[in-house]
Amino acid sequence: MRHLLDIVDLTKEEINDLIKTASDIANKPKKYANACKGKKLATLFFEPSTRTRMSFEAAMLELGGNVICCTDINTSSLAKGECIRDTVRVVGNYADIIAMRHPYEGTAYVAATKSPIPVINSGDGGHCHPTQTLADILTIHREIGKLDGITIGVCGDLKYGRTVHSLINAMIRYENVKFVLISPKELRLPEYMKDTLAKSNSTYTEVDNLEEALPLLDVLYMTRVQRERFDDINEYERVKNCYILTSEHLKLAKEKMAILHPLPRVNEISQFVDNDPRAAYFRQTLNGKLMRMALILKLLGETNKNSFVEPETIIGKKCTNKKCISHIEPELDYKYVKSEDGVLKCLYCETLQKN
Ligand code: CP
Repeated sequence: MRHLLDIVDLTKEEINDLIKTASDIANKPKKYANACKGKKLATLFFEPSTRTRMSFEAAMLELGGNVICCTDINTSSLAKGECIRDTVRVVGNYADIIAMRHPYEGTAYVAATKSPIPVINSGDGGHCHPTQTLADILTIHREIGKLDGITIGVCGDLKYGRTVHSLINAMIRYENVKFVLISPKELRLPEYMKDTLAKSNSTYTEVDNLEEALPLLDVLYMTRVQRERFDDINEYERVKNCYILTSEHLKLAKEKMAILHPLPRVNEISQFVDNDPRAAYFRQTLNGKLMRMALILKLLGETNKNSFVEPETIIGKKCTNKKCISHIEPELDYKYVKSEDGVLKCLYCETLQKN
């Protein structure tokens, strides 16, 4: 069957098809009102969420299906020590498709290795969040009118911001996309993502000054500093106010620039910016529901296709990323993909292993 664990599981053509389906759903919702009649979505959200979980649930209900959910790790049997592979085997008897969020990186991947039904990664720690990217792409398409040849500024927490990682992985497949990575040095993009960018056809620059970058941008993708991912709260305190976008800043920006944010925001965009027509982040949340509807339809329509192919791996020592699922899931081999230059990348969380 098809899972969606990482945005790269979808080809560019498939993403473009999802955009078409989402647009059709927006224009003709009645046509889709019974498309998932008799089907159930299980939302397994072991981390807080408003948008992703509720938009998935609204998506399934608007397609005529039903929803069962678990929204608290402490009320699930994970709290008794059940492993994620057993959980999804069981849920596979109750539902037709799973949307899963978990604080450990690579959890959706590990779940998919044993799940009898499609698994949609709805955020795994600081790793990736592919369905947010689907919302982002539809928003860029609707706001800017194209996906090729644009300059995207990603600003804030590029280290832990999983939505940034998925967005980059998706947008490097479009033509002539330029990234301006705006962050303090403590929150720079992880090495494995820079490696991905360096091997792509896109170009990127790393800067720490938002004002200098703004005039260049077609899209400004703001992010929250992810307090929950910091080991040292003092470090969070030092960087938490690194960027606060105000109406004054927008005088420097293009008239047609689109401001995106996966939300929730804390203080990184002033509430006054909401009145600017360039502020697209609430429209983005509606786009998220439409793309999730399109995705549910696609995955439920492809349960006879097997797209889950594990790459060639070698077994190694414990992953250096403390938030990797391999640290808590019992009897899981530490598996690595070896690059041409001999660097080991964790199969689950993609962290590059240093000697
Ligand atoms: N963008 C996003 O993932 O929001 P939630 O955490 O509210 O789901």
